[in-house]
Amino acid sequence: IKKIAVFTSGGDAPGMNACIRAVVRTSMYYGIEVYGIRRGYNGMIAGDIYQMTSHSVSNIIQRGGTILKSARSKEFMTKEGRQKAFEQLQKFGIEGLVAIGGNGTFTGATIFYDEYGIPTVGAPGTIDNDLFGTDYTIGYDTAVNTALEAIDKIRDTADSHDRVFFIEVMGRDSGYIAIQSGIAGGAEIVMVPEVLTPITEVIETLKQGWNRSKSSSIIVVAEGDEEGNAAEVAEKIKSRVDIDIDIRVTTLGHIQRGGIPTAYDRILASRLGLGAVEGLMNGHKNVMVGIINNEIIYTPFRDTIRLPKPINEDMLRMVKILST
Ligand code: F6P
Repeated sequence: IKKIAVFTSGGDAPGMNACIRAVVRTSMYYGIEVYGIRRGYNGMIAGDIYQMTSHSVSNIIQRGGTILKSARSKEFMTKEGRQKAFEQLQKFGIEGLVAIGGNGTFTGATIFYDEYGIPTVGAPGTIDNDLFGTDYTIGYDTAVNTALEAIDKIRDTADSHDRVFFIEVMGRDSGYIAIQSGIAGGAEIVMVPEVLTPITEVIETLKQGWNRSKSSSIIVVAEGDEEGNAAEVAEKIKSRVDIDIDIRVTTLGHIQRGGIPTAYDRILASRLGLGAVEGLMNGHKNVMVGIINNEIIYTPFRDTIRLPKPINEDMLRMVKILST
């Protein structure tokens, strides 16, 4: 393989830059020409493609966001869009792609391969940690730490005012960010989409706390929780308890997507970027490079897309035990 291109797609995640850097530097090391595609599939369609050098990725390992920018492309979902993208790649002589993103990105890559035969190796880049085939995704650790910092701050004011706080964290349909930030932040309750925590149980736990004269509580709610978002859950609680509780809701939102990547994310991203290029060199296609038990593993896109990534229910059990 002589020429490859790298792009970031879908929601950005801290550590994506470290991954781009690793892709570029690994390619250079092996004498492969490497191109950057701006704004994900949209840039591929528009031909917003440029040759990268070792220098293009200097001084970016510590930066959040993505220097290649990102997008969720509607046009790439159409046959015409993909045709245009293929023509652009042909123009540059690109023989392989490294896609840094999540399942939407990998679904697009699979369809593209079936139509035009350009191999892609994906690197898992999303704060959600919702991809089967890797223990952790790029950006997840940073997002958890960002959420944790916010939870710690909220706990201070919750305690001063004897309040119950519902804190909503991101994760789409996954409860990973919620569970880890919740445990690390000493949350009394963590609500995740994977396992239903009924409102009755939330009330019960809060009541037990009040009986022990616990005056403030933190409830971390994953945005995809079945009982609703944090504001909805808070409303349900208010309408069902007879005592006067002072409730506040904080939605952390996109703050979780930015910021300086942690050491863990930078190292993970570097290993995955290197693994993606070596994967392409070894003939891998339509696979995601991941790390499981500290080992590089290539998992077919069809599995990363299809298979759920269960959360460790033991962690939820621990929240209950440790909040008594
Ligand atoms: O997939 C990352 C993520 O931040 C999710 O946690 C969230 O549901 C979604 O993206 C938000 O998307 P957008 O940035 O398009 O609002």
